[in-house]
Amino acid sequence: MSVSIPVHAPVLDAVAVSAVMRCLEREEISGNAPTVRDFEAAFASWLGVDHAIAVSSGTTALRLALAAVEVGPGDEVILPTMTFAPCADMIVHAGATPVFVDCEPARLQLDIDAVTAAMTPRTRVVMAVHAYGQSADLDALEALCEASGVILLEDAAQSLGGACRQRAIGTIGRAACFSFYANKLLATGEGGMVVTNDADLAERARSLRSHAMSRGGAPYEHDACGFNFRLPALSAALGLAQVPQLDERLARRQVVAERYARGLSEVAGLRLLTPAPWTTRHAWWGHVVMVDGATYGRDAANLADALWEAGIATRRLYHPLHLHAPLRGLATAANPGPAGATARAGLPVSERLAPHGLVLPSGTGLTDAQIDRVVATLGALAHAVAA
Ligand SMILES: Cc1ncc(COP(=O)(O)O)c(C=O)c1O
Repeated sequence: MSVSIPVHAPVLDAVAVSAVMRCLEREEISGNAPTVRDFEAAFASWLGVDHAIAVSSGTTALRLALAAVEVGPGDEVILPTMTFAPCADMIVHAGATPVFVDCEPARLQLDIDAVTAAMTPRTRVVMAVHAYGQSADLDALEALCEASGVILLEDAAQSLGGACRQRAIGTIGRAACFSFYANKLLATGEGGMVVTNDADLAERARSLRSHAMSRGGAPYEHDACGFNFRLPALSAALGLAQVPQLDERLARRQVVAERYARGLSEVAGLRLLTPAPWTTRHAWWGHVVMVDGATYGRDAANLADALWEAGIATRRLYHPLHLHAPLRGLATAANPGPAGATARAGLPVSERLAPHGLVLPSGTGLTDAQIDRVVATLGALAHAVAA
């Protein structure tokens, strides 16, 4: 069966295509081109931050932000276990230790009590990875980090456009990272952004992004061991064309969420993750449905297969990172836990819930007819004989 409804598909209109063509005509292709600076300025202004540094991916945004706050060996970085591997990988590549914590069950966001319990004198950063378009209670996290002298770093790759108590997600931590991978709200193919209101941090990030070339020194003198994480101009042109479309895209995603909620309200055994009380704007990067196999008549894995057969793609939830072979040893060594036992005996909420969720088709371009087909298929598959 070929898939006719993808989980996410980029929306690239004539405006985006001609922006790229204009770059090509001007032979502007490198990561040092003016288009990159224009994209950074437009993104910073839309989000409401002072500085934006465009990079080649969400992964390199995380690596750059960790370098810019000077995280290294001996430091611990607390992050949720229910997230994408590069969040932990970049901590490992920085020479620091990832310390995984559980999520709360209602929305799969970072559990703030678990963060508090995981703090040690070596904690330098809390990496608040926001899941599926909203966030944990960022005010509580901000207060906790301020009280402990710990840096709050937001990974807002999935939550561009979301807001917590009217403050934009990505503007609350010392720095925040975004991804513009093809499946994101703003999609440049590959790409990312580090944002901050801290001028010194921004300057360090800008320098490290581009080999840390010395400004005042001799040619090819370098101030530090840097990276090449620059975003090519063609990708920046795609991004710049999409910034004015973000509000409209977010409004459409809200309509999609409401249509799913109405359609699935009668299907026993399926529970959509709903907004937290502090989520004043949900970016709806992913519409997540939790499957109660006993009530619905089939489990999430079986449902994903049946939907695929019906031409509808879905994604499973993340396999908790503390269970991944390359990270397990590190995690066990990292956090002795509040009672002296290892917290790695298990992160029970994540372990229990991870197998039971599915991300439904969620892209901006999803039509009403497609949503209705997904809803009807989910209804028809309930208690149908599982293959
Ligand atoms: C939460 C999170 N962090 C980081 C990344 C990495 O971004 P990229 O794929 O642009 O490297 C992703 C990508 O989906 C993500 O969802």
